[in-house]
Amino acid sequence: MIRLCPLLLLLTAAAAAFASGADEAHVSIAVAEKGLAFAKDVLIGEAVRSLTPLRLPGVEKAVRVPFLGGVRVAASNITLFHLDVGDNSTIFPGDSGLLVVASGITANISMHWSYCYDSWLFPIEIADSGTASILVQGMEVGITMVIKNNNGSLALSASQCGCYVKDLVISLDGGASWFYQGFINAFEDHIKAAVEKAIPENIIEGAGTLDSFLQGLPRTISLDDVAAFNMTFINDPHYGNSSIEFDINGLVTSAVAKTTNLQKHPQLSLACGGASKMLLLSLDEDVLNSALEVHFKAGSMHWVVDKVPDQSLLNTANWKFIIPRLYWNYPNDDMLLNISMASSPVIRITSEKIEATINADMVIDVVDGKEIVPVACISVIVSTSGVVDASGNKVYGRVGLDNFSLALKWSRIGNFHMSLIQGVIRVFLNTVCMPYLNSRLGNGFILPVVHGFTLQDVYVLTSAEQLTLCSDVTFNASSLASLSLL
Ligand SMILES: *[C@@H]1O[C@H](CO)[C@@H](O)[C@H](O)[C@H]1NC(C)=O
Ligand SMILES: *[C@@H]1O[C@H](CO)[C@@H](O)[C@H](O)[C@H]1NC(C)=O
Ligand SMILES: *[C@@H]1O[C@H](CO)[C@@H](O)[C@H](O)[C@H]1NC(C)=O
Ligand SMILES: *[C@@H]1O[C@H](CO)[C@@H](O)[C@H](O)[C@H]1NC(C)=O
Ligand SMILES: *[C@@H]1O[C@H](CO)[C@@H](O)[C@H](O)[C@H]1NC(C)=O
Ligand SMILES: *[C@@H]1O[C@H](CO)[C@@H](O)[C@H](O)[C@H]1NC(C)=O
Ligand SMILES: *[C@@H]1O[C@H](CO)[C@@H](O)[C@H](O)[C@H]1NC(C)=O
Ligand SMILES: *[C@@H]1O[C@H](CO)[C@@H](O)[C@H](O)[C@H]1NC(C)=O
Ligand SMILES: *[C@@H]1O[C@H](CO)[C@@H](O)[C@H](O)[C@H]1NC(C)=O
Repeated sequence: MIRLCPLLLLLTAAAAAFASGADEAHVSIAVAEKGLAFAKDVLIGEAVRSLTPLRLPGVEKAVRVPFLGGVRVAASNITLFHLDVGDNSTIFPGDSGLLVVASGITANISMHWSYCYDSWLFPIEIADSGTASILVQGMEVGITMVIKNNNGSLALSASQCGCYVKDLVISLDGGASWFYQGFINAFEDHIKAAVEKAIPENIIEGAGTLDSFLQGLPRTISLDDVAAFNMTFINDPHYGNSSIEFDINGLVTSAVAKTTNLQKHPQLSLACGGASKMLLLSLDEDVLNSALEVHFKAGSMHWVVDKVPDQSLLNTANWKFIIPRLYWNYPNDDMLLNISMASSPVIRITSEKIEATINADMVIDVVDGKEIVPVACISVIVSTSGVVDASGNKVYGRVGLDNFSLALKWSRIGNFHMSLIQGVIRVFLNTVCMPYLNSRLGNGFILPVVHGFTLQDVYVLTSAEQLTLCSDVTFNASSLASLSLL
C-alpha cells in the first residue's frame, strides 16, 4: 500500500536545524536508536565496498645516504584493497549534524617499490625492485552529515570528514628487501598522507551520490491507476537524542480529485509497545481516508451481487410474503443487488480498534427476461470495526459487523418496512459482505521497501487517530550491488 521509499534515506540519516512552519504532515517515520545503529552499519558496509580497491598516488624520492650517495626510491601502484572496520563505530545524532565515527580500522595496502643508486663503492648504477604489503592500524574516520529539506526532497551533504592514520607496518618482499627495509620511512609519510586525503575525498564523493539518490526519489508514488501517495517531505528532519524523525505529506491524491487537506500533525511516540524497534511508521487516519476518497471519486467502489450462499434469497418467490408486490409484478424472477457507495467510507482509529462506516446504496434489480429492472433502493449504513495485523512485508486487516441501519430511498414496488428485511440483510452482511471485505483485506497490502531492505517482525499499534507500524529492518548488500550507492 505505502511504499517505504524513504527507508534507505531514513537509515542514512543526518542532521540539521529544527524545523517548524508548515503543518501538513500526515505520515511520520522515525528511525530509533536501534535503527540508527543499523543505518550506520549499512552505511559503513557500503562505504567499505565502494572504497576498495582505492588507488593512491605513487611517489618518487631522492634520498642522500652517507657512503651510498644519492638513492632514488619509488613506490607505485599503491592500492588499498581491504578495509576492516570492526565493531568500534558509533553514530551520534546532534543539533548540527549526524556524526558517524569509526575507530580501530585496519587496512591492507599493496604496492610496488624500486630503488636505484650510484655510489663510489660501486661505480655502476644499481637497481632493485619488489612488492610490499602494508598494514594500516588504528585508523579513525569521522563524518558529519547533514540532511535538510530542499523543496520537499531530502538533501544530504557530508559537511565534514576526517581520517587519521595511527600506524603503518610496511613489509617489503622481493629484491634484496632485507637490505632496503631501512628506507621505508621514505614511503611511510607519503602513504599515511595519501590515505588521510583519499578516504575523506572518496567518502564525500559517495555522499554526493547518495544525495542525488535522495533528491531523485519520486514525489509521488502510484498506488494503482487512480491513486498516488504524496511523498513530499515536510520540514527538516527532527532530531532526538537517539532518533531522527521525518515527516511526509502522505495523503493519497489523484489527478482527478484533490483531497481535503486536514491540518494535523502525527504525534509520534517512540514507545513501540515497549519493544525496541528500528523503524516506526505513523499514519494519520486521514491517509487511509484520503485513499478511500480518491477511489470513491474515481467511481471504483461498485459491487454487483448475483450469488449468495442461500441462492433462493435472490429470487422473487422468496419475497412473496414480505414484499408481495415484488412477487406479483415479477413472479419467480432472479434478482441482483447492485451496491455502490453513497459517500466515501470513513475510517476512525482509536486506541482500541479501527472503525469504518460504510454508507452504501443497495439497488434491488429484477432480471425480467433479458431486461434488468431496478425496483427499489435501500440505503444501508454499516458500522464495522476491525484490527490490523502484520506479517512479513504485508499488512492485513480483518473486520466484523457492529451494527447497521436501513432506509428505503425509493421503490417501484410500494413501501415496505425495513424491519421486515432487517434479518435477511443481517445474514447477507455477515455471510456475503464481511467475508468479501475480509478476503480483500486478507490478501494484505505489501509494504514495498527500497531494494535490498526487508521489514522484519512488523507489528501494528493503534492510538487516537493514528496507526503505527513498528519494524526491524534487514539488509542484503548483494541485492543492492546494482544500485552502487556510495
Ligand atoms: C597493481 O597492483 C595490483 C594489485 O596488487 C596488481 O593486480 C596489478 O597487476 C598491479 N599493476 C601494475 C601495473 O603493476
Ligand atoms: C574504540 O574507540 C575508542 C575511541 O577511539 C577507543 O578509546 C577504544 O579503545 C576502542 N575500543 C576498541 C575495542 O577498539
Ligand atoms: C591484511 O594484513 C594482515 C596482516 O598482514 C593479514 O593478516 C590479513 O590477512 C590481510 N588481509 C587481507 C584481506 O589480505
Ligand atoms: C520545487 O518542487 C516543485 C515540485 O516538484 C517544482 O515544481 C519546483 O520547480 C521546485 N522548485 C525549486 C526552486 O526547485
Ligand atoms: C537529550 O539529552 C539531554 C542531555 O542528556 C537531556 O537533558 C534531554 O532531556 C534529552 N532529550 C530527550 C528528548 O530525551
Ligand atoms: C503534496 O504535498 C505537498 C506538501 O504538503 C503539497 O504542497 C503538494 O501540493 C501535494 N501534492 C499534491 C499532488 O497534492
Ligand atoms: C449498477 O448501478 C450503476 C449505477 O449506480 C449502473 O451504472 C450499472 O449499470 C448497474 N449495474 C447493474 C448490473 O445493474
Ligand atoms: C451503531 O451503534 C453506534 C453506537 O450505538 C452508533 O453510534 C452508530 O450510529 C450505529 N451505526 C449505525 C449504522 O446505526
Ligand atoms: C541476497 O540477495 C542475493 C541477490 O539478490 C540473493 O541471491 C541472496 O539469496 C540474498 N540473501 C538473502 C539472505 O536473502
